[in-house]
Amino acid sequence: MKFFIDTANLDQIREAQDLGVLDGVTTNPSLMAKEGISGESNVIQHYLDICEIVDGPVSAEVISTDFEGMVQEGEKLAALHPNIVVKVPMIKDGVKALRYFSQKGIKTNCTLVFSAGQALLAAKAGANYVSPFIGRLDDISTNGLELIGQIRHIYDNYAFQTEILAASVRHTMHLIQCAELGADVMTGPLHTITGLLKHPLTDIGLEQFLADHKKASQVKV
Ligand code: G3P
Repeated sequence: MKFFIDTANLDQIREAQDLGVLDGVTTNPSLMAKEGISGESNVIQHYLDICEIVDGPVSAEVISTDFEGMVQEGEKLAALHPNIVVKVPMIKDGVKALRYFSQKGIKTNCTLVFSAGQALLAAKAGANYVSPFIGRLDDISTNGLELIGQIRHIYDNYAFQTEILAASVRHTMHLIQCAELGADVMTGPLHTITGLLKHPLTDIGLEQFLADHKKASQVKV
């Protein structure tokens, strides 16, 4: 399973990268706005900065909602760096754009996916990644994880190459259950990854080991 971090915060991206387990980054317009990044040249520079930190796919989302606009924006984004993946929303013109980019060899991530039918369409259109938003489904009393299982089943039936990128992952249990269900990638905030480290028995055990070691080295022979 690949670990992507879902943020535009450079410090958090660096921290995840330093841990040595980071495979890529996803961003979206809300995450960019949260970091105060606006204006075309600043946005472009920010994507380049992220690509400098992480050697893996970096999803950069188009803002246009019409086919021509998405193509224009996507081609510009893809030309920035070989690791850029163009993030396209699951709407009619988005599906057309996914097909267009796929034929051009431009990598894509189909975002805002909330149903198996949408995921099937994204795969048919040649998306490299499909992003089902599990946390947002949970938010409206719908089981987001069930969708991951459904998409896995459908993609396996037909050997679709589209990778399931579980998005809107909110906590470590989401991540673990996505791994059990066979999601290819997860993307979430830094704490969803670092949270995996935590276990009180690890802390208690380490404390005991160190105390025993100290005691033993103080024993005079
Ligand atoms: O990757 C999609 C993600 O940014 C949405 O997450 O927590 O805003 O639903 P969230």
